[in-house]
Amino acid sequence: MNSIRYVDQMDLDGKRVLLRVDLNVPLRNGVVADDSRILAVLPTIEHIIGEGGMPIITSHLDRPGGKRVPELSLRPVSERLSELTGDKVAFVDEVTGPKAEAAASSLKEGSMLMLENLRFDPGEEVNDESFARSLASLADAYVDDAFANAHRAHASNVGVTRFIDDVAGGLLMKMELQALEGVLVAPERPLVVAIGGAKVSSKIATIEHLSKIADRLLLGGAMAFPFLRAKGIDVGDHRADGEAVERAKRMLDERPGSLVLPEDFAVDDGGRREVDVTGLPEDMNVLDIGPRTIDKFASELKAAGTIVWNGPMGKFEEEGFDVGTRMVAKAISASPAYSLVGGGDTNAALDRYEVRDRISYVSTGGGAFLEMLSGRELPAVKALVRQTVNA
Ligand code: 3PG
Repeated sequence: MNSIRYVDQMDLDGKRVLLRVDLNVPLRNGVVADDSRILAVLPTIEHIIGEGGMPIITSHLDRPGGKRVPELSLRPVSERLSELTGDKVAFVDEVTGPKAEAAASSLKEGSMLMLENLRFDPGEEVNDESFARSLASLADAYVDDAFANAHRAHASNVGVTRFIDDVAGGLLMKMELQALEGVLVAPERPLVVAIGGAKVSSKIATIEHLSKIADRLLLGGAMAFPFLRAKGIDVGDHRADGEAVERAKRMLDERPGSLVLPEDFAVDDGGRREVDVTGLPEDMNVLDIGPRTIDKFASELKAAGTIVWNGPMGKFEEEGFDVGTRMVAKAISASPAYSLVGGGDTNAALDRYEVRDRISYVSTGGGAFLEMLSGRELPAVKALVRQTVNA
């Protein structure tokens, strides 16, 4: 388990606190379309203010590529944060520089400040030292609550920790790490993991690690193709490439009992048509798992002591192809097992089937969630651990 110092162990009174959060939220017509990532960091903001600290809030939004892109300004996010807190959040349309310095130094107790999109500055993503120093110079203390960005080694979450001594993780960071470490280190058995989604290359390392620790690994969506091919089933060359198939073969050799593969799929034949995995038409899109697979996955989930889910079982937003994803969502919500769910599409499925409040913990992370499930240490977490050791 990581031993990190958290914000609730800090003395915050009268301190300016550089608070890194992940408010990479969707905007529609210049307005925040989903505020769940803002809601998730409110406890940390409220804690800092409640303890007499003054948060200087920093985040990235999307990928502006190191230059100012007006549509990706964080101003609408600061407006939503003002609505949610009932306090006016002062916004500075710069990340560092004289305006940001003046606003930071004139902060008063009980108030907070939000800086412009970190990724407008080319120094952020390359972890530039002088940019990290400038950020650090705005504050007396630093709190990282941006779990969803913790797989990136950027100036605002890694570089900055070298230039401020008083460093800690936020309350969201604490919940995320505890939830993930709990299932990775000491899960109630059997640990059943359901992995779906469309891009095999982005998840093969995660599947590799999970195949070593899960009792059952259910593979839906496109994740299953390399494994089916590795077992000698002809799924069509375009559906599984060489390297993924080799890695799948190794996993099947090492842990044959833990991998649970689909027996049938639903393809788009002008509507839903169910076919055995041995009879997949070359030219039709596979958009869901089939009924035998759904039954098999459902009974594995029912027997679970702990459940982890990432990635839909098919194209659930398309009519007729949501059966597998809906079943997984419902099965998890009905289970008394501890459940941990993460990923953007998976989050959308929880809302669609109205089961979010029945999940033990829903992660705000996508890439970071998968990286941790891959058994890798996240660079921003490593930076917090290093600071804790040095403290
Ligand atoms: C996310 O939404 O997963 C994080 O904010 C990271 O965004 P990125 O993939 O653009 O680094």
